[in-house]
Amino acid sequence: MPDLWAGRLPEGSHPDARAFTGTVSWDWRLAHVDLVGSLAHVDMLGAVGLLTPLDRDQLTAGLRELLAEVDAGCPPWDEAAEDVHTAVEQELSQRLGPVAGRLHTARSRNDQVALDLHLYVVDAARELAAALARLILRLADVAEIHAALPMPGYTHLQRAQPITVGHHLLAYGFMWQRDRERLGDVARRAQVSPLGAGALAGSTLKVDPLTVAQQLGWPAVYLNSLDAVSDRDFVAEFVFAAALTLSHLSRWGEELVIWSSAEFGFVELADAWATGSSMMPHKKNPDVAELLRGRSARGVAHLTGLLTLLKGLPLAYNRDLQEDKGYLFGTHDTASGAIDAATGLVGALTFRPERTGAALTTDLLATDQADRLVEEGMPFRQAHGQVASSRDWRQSPAAPGAAVAQSLTERDRVMGPGPLSIARQLAALRRAVAEPV
Ligand code: ARG
Repeated sequence: MPDLWAGRLPEGSHPDARAFTGTVSWDWRLAHVDLVGSLAHVDMLGAVGLLTPLDRDQLTAGLRELLAEVDAGCPPWDEAAEDVHTAVEQELSQRLGPVAGRLHTARSRNDQVALDLHLYVVDAARELAAALARLILRLADVAEIHAALPMPGYTHLQRAQPITVGHHLLAYGFMWQRDRERLGDVARRAQVSPLGAGALAGSTLKVDPLTVAQQLGWPAVYLNSLDAVSDRDFVAEFVFAAALTLSHLSRWGEELVIWSSAEFGFVELADAWATGSSMMPHKKNPDVAELLRGRSARGVAHLTGLLTLLKGLPLAYNRDLQEDKGYLFGTHDTASGAIDAATGLVGALTFRPERTGAALTTDLLATDQADRLVEEGMPFRQAHGQVASSRDWRQSPAAPGAAVAQSLTERDRVMGPGPLSIARQLAALRRAVAEPV
């Protein structure tokens, strides 16, 4: 196939230049959204009279045929095409003949790829948000079962005050719910159509960008064509939201690594979600949890890479922008895999009350003792000093269950680890997850 610009540069690209600049092998995953965008574009061209009804119908039928093939998982029609947009247009012209040449009326690949990315980000953000909802609901069930199972809460990874396993797990539930809402915001904000910006300055033809937006069910179009083709804020927002999700998953992964160690022993992982050692016969390793921790590095790397790519770029479109896809797709795949793995892992946890209980030593009640003195009228600083100097803190036997239960009940306020608070947290979290984002 001749290059799209063969009229200007008839000799064609050097194969090495083509190999260096081409992307169809990895931007093919935009084929679905590219076709959805083209269908909306064709509708608009028909509505403003730039296509006859016959041409519009022919193009629509041709694009729908291609869309069905893409959705059935077909590989690129031309592996040597420069990019997905070129591959689609070339295939359409092979099938429909000269009428396919009308598709690109008043459109550049610059506004086309921008629209594709908007469509992709909306779908990807919603997909991750839905995956997070599944994770949160699973977690809530496990948190409910262990709502009243006491364990030490930590600061500085040193035992601090009594909490419960349910309370601890729910902290992650709320983190992931915020991630879910953030992804919903990203999807909402990405629903602005750049189509009509053309290469950079719109078109002399009487196009109507608002019709495209309406066709897609979106509320807005860009008001500035330069902004429309050069904006990748919505990609950066998606990558950030997903990177933060990965970071939250990494914190949870780390907790599970610690909790499943022989030293802590708070949790036992189901064999199916653990691994062994090729050399040491006795080992049972928490590799999934470790990879939740480790894979978050990719989120940070992609976010850093994308921001570095965007900084300092002059307006409007620059070919550098094609690199955004590596970061976008990489983050999407990484986050999607990690959320699903975490969902599996939630169901693979068996808590060990004998170990969480043994770790609840009497020193964890020291702050409560100081609080009692405060209730008797003593200034807190003095109470702190009195309790601190009253014993040898290296010798703290396991606290009686009743004392721990009382400490938890006394903390039964908003945010606290007490039983009513946990019930409220569970209800609030489940209500929040039931809300669409
Ligand atoms: N494949 C390019 C991208 O993803 C779009 C092509 C625009 N190329 C151009 N030379 N104007 O950004």
